[in-house]
Amino acid sequence: MDIDRINKKLQTSIFGKNLFYLHEIDSTNNYALKLAKEGAPEGTVVVADYQTKGKGRLDRKWYSAPGENLLLSILIYPEQEIELVQKITLAAANILIESIESYLKKHHYNKVDINVKWPNDLLINGKKTAGILTESILREKHIKALVIGFGINLNTLESKMPLELRETATSLIEFTKEPVIIEDFLAHFLYCFEQSYFVLERTNYSQVVPLWKKYCKQFGKTISIETSNGNEEVCFYDINDEGHLIYRRTDGELKELISGTIVEA
Ligand code: BTN
Repeated sequence: MDIDRINKKLQTSIFGKNLFYLHEIDSTNNYALKLAKEGAPEGTVVVADYQTKGKGRLDRKWYSAPGENLLLSILIYPEQEIELVQKITLAAANILIESIESYLKKHHYNKVDINVKWPNDLLINGKKTAGILTESILREKHIKALVIGFGINLNTLESKMPLELRETATSLIEFTKEPVIIEDFLAHFLYCFEQSYFVLERTNYSQVVPLWKKYCKQFGKTISIETSNGNEEVCFYDINDEGHLIYRRTDGELKELISGTIVEA
């Protein structure tokens, strides 16, 4: 990665000013959590070309070919209680969608159909293009620090993905038809993130859920959720104000899922 290029393109006041670039690391989230414990400032950013132990949600692995995609962790210190973590993660998904849309527009590419899959997968034409993993350091009920990790598939062609991902994952390059310059996308994304983050903090994340719902196409669909009793087929009913999933069981009962996974949608 060309750090000079990032610094030249960066138009933020704090996000990315304290930037750690690692050629190879276990996980950018782990690195950012360590920096948080050492008191790194808000807006600290960690990027890497390759992760040896890239983490996905629910103890899954995050695979990304070396040097092709964006592996990024952002450190923030939101003045919020623990209940807001889910909503901040939904907000991060909103920001990522808006930033991809504005990046494509700025570079005169065609529009693409981007949407979210609860809680925070980004899909383009139904295939996963990015995932978000938020990890927090808490002091009692307060968020002491939050690391938001983004894995954004930019340049790995579907045909070059591991076989088990080809059917379900995609990259931005499939739509731009030419490589996405990682440094330029990063500078653009950090600018979008900074602009939104300050507004979100001022407005208590009140607009997050309505905007997220606009990007979600799962309402009314049958989904399969992982529960302690195995998988269960339910109906995707709604998202409540805290960003939790409300689903309807086959017997009509409405239930809430705070965090978990939807296996299929
Ligand atoms: C998911 O979809 O399950 C979340 C994937 C998050 C992956 C990113 S890559 C950068 C950051 N570091 C990690 O170890 N994970 C996140």
